[in-house]
Amino acid sequence: MLRRLHPDQPDSFAFTPANRAWAEAQMTKYPPGRQASAIIPLLWRAQEQEGWLSRPAIEHVADMLGMAHIRALEVATFYFMFQLAPVGSVAHVQICGTTSCLICGAEDLIGVCKDRIAAAPFTLSTDGRFSWEEVECLGACSNAPMAQIGKDYYEDLTADRLAWILDELAAGRVPAPGPQNGRFASEPKGGPTSLTGQGGRKMAHNASVALATTIGDTVKRIDGTEVPLLTPWRRAGAAAEEVKTEGG
Ligand code: FES
Repeated sequence: MLRRLHPDQPDSFAFTPANRAWAEAQMTKYPPGRQASAIIPLLWRAQEQEGWLSRPAIEHVADMLGMAHIRALEVATFYFMFQLAPVGSVAHVQICGTTSCLICGAEDLIGVCKDRIAAAPFTLSTDGRFSWEEVECLGACSNAPMAQIGKDYYEDLTADRLAWILDELAAGRVPAPGPQNGRFASEPKGGPTSLTGQGGRKMAHNASVALATTIGDTVKRIDGTEVPLLTPWRRAGAAAEEVKTEGG
């Protein structure tokens, strides 16, 4: 699919002070001269801040990293994780339309999106709260059909279940992601047929779902309050500088 910049662009972009501090910290994770390696996390944080990636945001990140604008544009237009047009304020729904999901009912899921959100992809719902698109395989084929909503996967979907999930999100609730048909992960529907001597399962959710429900960032935009900024080498460097200055 051709991915182009949106025709309506804002005049400018700047990181919030907190996001700027976070972005500068990420750049120190790479050796001098290799700051371009931070392109994906910085673009991601810009998108988290604004909801989508505008041209000024992409160019701002390129300037921070000392990259030619075209190099950053290449990255932003290549990956589906980057949204090049405004998306729903509550959630953007990405329906996998590749082989396994298509065979198992992806077209029904797309029908729900057309009915509930908008007739065409990349179009905001009338209240501006939802949008959707069809994407290529998201690597959860054994749990087809599936959709990525926000940052998490909703798997083993039916049209009714997706409609219910959209209703829940519209009401301000976030259903637990992962398999929606009672499966724990991607084992056979009737239960495991191998490695059956591993003892009873104690966890309510598989690790991915447990992490998603603990952090709570499925449809929340990351703003830096989720985890502390961990770049201890910067503190160590500042302390060493102080000792050198005191010692003359
Ligand atoms: S085909 Fe849908 S996740 Fe792979």
